[in-house]
Amino acid sequence: MGFISVRLYLLLMSLVLVPSLVPSLAAQSRPYGGALPGYARYLLDATAMPAVEQYDYIVVGGGTAGCPLAATLSGPGGGRVLLLERGGAPSEFPALATAGGFVRTLAMADPAPESDAPAQAFTSEDGVPNVRARVLGGGTAINAGFYSRAHPGWFHGHGEDAEVTNWDMRLVNASYEWVERQMTFQPTVHGWQAAVRAALLEANVTPWNGFTVDHVAGTKVGATTFDASGRRHSAADLLGFARPGRLRVALRATVTRIITNPIDPAARRGRSPQPTVAAIGVVYQDRLLEQHRALLRPGGEVILSAGAIGSPQLLLLSGIGPASDLSYLGIPVAADVPDVGKHMFDNPRNGISVIPSVPIDHSLIQVVGIPSANGSESYLEAASYIVPLAPALSSSGPFIGSTTPLYITVATIMQKVPGPVSEGSLWLPSGNPLESPALRFNYLSRPEDLARCVLGVRRVAEVLESRALDGFRSSVGSTSRRGPVRRDFRIVGTALPVDWRTNDRALANFCLQTVATLWHYHGGCVAGKVVDRDFRVIGARSLRVVDASTFSETPGTNPQATILMMGRYMGLKMIEERHSRRPVRS
Ligand SMILES: Cc1cc2nc3c(=O)[nH]c(=O)nc-3n(C[C@H](O)[C@H](O)[C@H](O)COP(=O)(O)OP(=O)(O)OC[C@H]3O[C@@H](n4cnc5c(N)ncnc54)[C@H](O)[C@@H]3O)c2cc1C
Ligand SMILES: *[C@@H]1O[C@H](CO)[C@@H](O)[C@H](O)[C@H]1NC(C)=O
Ligand SMILES: *[C@@H]1O[C@H](CO)[C@@H](O)[C@H](O)[C@H]1NC(C)=O
Repeated sequence: MGFISVRLYLLLMSLVLVPSLVPSLAAQSRPYGGALPGYARYLLDATAMPAVEQYDYIVVGGGTAGCPLAATLSGPGGGRVLLLERGGAPSEFPALATAGGFVRTLAMADPAPESDAPAQAFTSEDGVPNVRARVLGGGTAINAGFYSRAHPGWFHGHGEDAEVTNWDMRLVNASYEWVERQMTFQPTVHGWQAAVRAALLEANVTPWNGFTVDHVAGTKVGATTFDASGRRHSAADLLGFARPGRLRVALRATVTRIITNPIDPAARRGRSPQPTVAAIGVVYQDRLLEQHRALLRPGGEVILSAGAIGSPQLLLLSGIGPASDLSYLGIPVAADVPDVGKHMFDNPRNGISVIPSVPIDHSLIQVVGIPSANGSESYLEAASYIVPLAPALSSSGPFIGSTTPLYITVATIMQKVPGPVSEGSLWLPSGNPLESPALRFNYLSRPEDLARCVLGVRRVAEVLESRALDGFRSSVGSTSRRGPVRRDFRIVGTALPVDWRTNDRALANFCLQTVATLWHYHGGCVAGKVVDRDFRVIGARSLRVVDASTFSETPGTNPQATILMMGRYMGLKMIEERHSRRPVRS
């Protein structure tokens, strides 16, 4: 097998390229055709917000769940809603508008909390580079766009929280449908994606299920948030369904704390354990470091939709978490909730990337292979990226003297471990709200996960062996005295062990050595431990968490569909509750 440098491999596999590698790409981009999105009228920079204001609902985090939630809460039967997002609007960052900008967005990722980049880079204590969204629309504004509903079994709960879920499946489906009508499309499959489709079928990932948003065993084409002209649709678009006059979206508004009041023991009632504190509002900071407060009207609620890193971080900063850790940091304890920040999960990604012998199109995930829909096996997907190679690598290579950047196409087939069961935690390095939390996922630390990774990588190898991919093999292949010459792939980085068909131990080592992230991290505020079946924070009143931090398992497939659905679903549920408490005003 042919190799290219370890340096290039690291560059490609992490997909976090050095910004200086891509200067000429930035110049090629154009914003959304100049037109402002329909929701632009709701947006305000936080510096223009008053020092204190009152709302019925304060949604923290304008991401995948936060946008549909805020739009719905402001709609018929809802109330006055404030949505607070630490990042800017997607229209400010042209690379977000198209699938072709995916790699460029990751290349611009910046770890600094004060940076304006729409993707924030971080590295977990495991040493695996990762990113989190920092822009209105959240993950949906920077991700690969693949859209697929959860397996129905996911809604019945999993593991220890099997008893704590309470999904109304009719409303779940209606909420998925609402999202799908607004922002999903059927992709046209060609090039690398079509070849991988055939290869998956040849490797017995069957049956062929055609185009479907359902998570079913076999090979399928899922929906995408990129439309026929290649333009991205994100959760921010859903803000267009807000009721004018009832939604305010503050950008570059970083929430630093939830304001809570102790509840008088004599006035405690209801849920068990009884809440000891009530959320009454939040404090947020604008880009000029001015502090603002948003306070709840009577009967109002604060909802955290800041994602699997942001939501547990904010609970901890607000004194809701493990009492001893909080005291150690000097944060006054509002409610002792030991599991905040615990049970953090990330799906390990292991893949094989090749440089195909023929030029291929850039493609994000469209075709996936699901060997078993219940998550007992791995989950396979493919992408192809066109990435700049020069000038950083040209000094030692054959590219000396070239002034224009060189591009190479890298095609990849990857697998993730669904679930997973290996878990880690998130913690605050200090009481400073602007310091990023630390976290560790403990990838593949449980033998069940490692065993599924071994199966998954073997599947990937089988797919790569298939005749359907012969046209992409390179002429630099191995020569054999025994049989016909078998053209090989030029592999990027770590090669598979030669005895991959039989050697589980060697494949397990490959899994551990090449582990990366598919960015599906979740947990930190899991249902049954930090929030109850209605996503209310245990121990607190008027405070919920609605996002991927409540999941103790990924929905089998890629998570965005289910997180978007959850925002719409919880908005409708909360309006229903509001009506059961008081007369409708609309
Ligand atoms: C590179 C990449 C590719 C991916 N590809 C896919 C894919 O193809 N398909 C798929 O289904 N999933 C994909 N995912 C995963 C998916 O996008 C995420 O799981 C999902 O978007 C997470 O949703 P969330 O609501 O939990 O958090 P987010 O969408 O991240 O929303 C959280 C929001 O809260 C804001 N925030 C955080 N803290 C604060 C604070 N203190 N104050 C104010 N605002 C705050 C953040 O800026 C962010 O906008 C991908 C993710 C990444 C990063
Ligand atoms: C919800 O939709 C799924 C398909 O995605 C279907 O199988 C299921 O029967 C539906 N459930 C209800 C209650 O409508
Ligand atoms: C999951 O599905 C596979 C087949 O796809 C089956 O062999 C296995 O028993 C199932 N496991 C569970 C826990 O249902």
